[in-house]
Amino acid sequence: MSVSKCLFPVAGLGTRFLPVTKELAKEMLPLVNKPIISYGVEEAISSGCNNIIMISGRAKRSIENYFDRSFELEELLKARGKMELYEEMIKISNMAEILFIRQREPLGLGHAVLCGEPVCKNEYFGVILPDDVFVSEEPVMSQLIKVHERLGGSVIALEYVEPEDVSRYGIVDSKEIEPGIHKINDMIEKPSLEKSPSRYAIMGRYVLSPLIFPILAGQNAGAGGEIQLTDALRKLAGIEPVYGVVYRGRRFDCGTQKGWLAANVALAMDNPELREVILNIVNNK
Ligand code: UTP
Repeated sequence: MSVSKCLFPVAGLGTRFLPVTKELAKEMLPLVNKPIISYGVEEAISSGCNNIIMISGRAKRSIENYFDRSFELEELLKARGKMELYEEMIKISNMAEILFIRQREPLGLGHAVLCGEPVCKNEYFGVILPDDVFVSEEPVMSQLIKVHERLGGSVIALEYVEPEDVSRYGIVDSKEIEPGIHKINDMIEKPSLEKSPSRYAIMGRYVLSPLIFPILAGQNAGAGGEIQLTDALRKLAGIEPVYGVVYRGRRFDCGTQKGWLAANVALAMDNPELREVILNIVNNK
């Protein structure tokens, strides 16, 4: 497989979810019955990335524990004859080899990616921001890897956003070279609508060239005093090809309370039993 390693930057402070994120990692908030992080890890694995590297910070021990064995719980479930749940617990801890690297200070997404250099320095690697949860026929990371395998270079996920939303995202200046595939010329972080070069926004999935590491290492803090990944990607696009893929699928932004709530409702509506609960509440029954 051309891309076998995938970085998960999960060292952010999650301030938009305080106070719950005072103690609990944002990525451990539930989406129905599984934590947010689990959706990203499943996507990586089904895209062929069997080496998962979490860049974690404070309050992230719960993530480590979630993917680890829990002997006491397993024994209890077994003793009580709850074999289905027992099997499910074993499956989670066997899901993938997960390596944890600590980002000592939350100096920005770019810095978090740089923390993955010791493991990823010689090869193209994936990056998944688990806040962006995708529901799609083909995993979005797999859509990106296929373009990388065909065209080479780095690849980022794009979404055509509403005009009022361009100022929330990194926006690309690009040329569509095939339906749904863009060659990126430049990008700008959170522009005003007037200054925005397009309405194609960068979403939380990337296949990156290892050349990003020396660029990040030599980069000063940008907007918000953080080392920005977008700044490094701009430089990378001037040296090597960077492509954008307009992903096929549905995205939930679980980094905000509204998006997280919407994701829970939407996913619950797919489950006949839970659907009824929601409809009863909405219809005031
Ligand atoms: P966000 O911009 O969502 O920041 O980070 P955040 O801290 O997670 O959340 P808020 O804005 O305070 O509510 C985007 C991604 O980059 C990671 C985050 O964990 C998230 O996956 N990140 C950000 C790091 O790993 N380290 C950092 O220093 C900053």
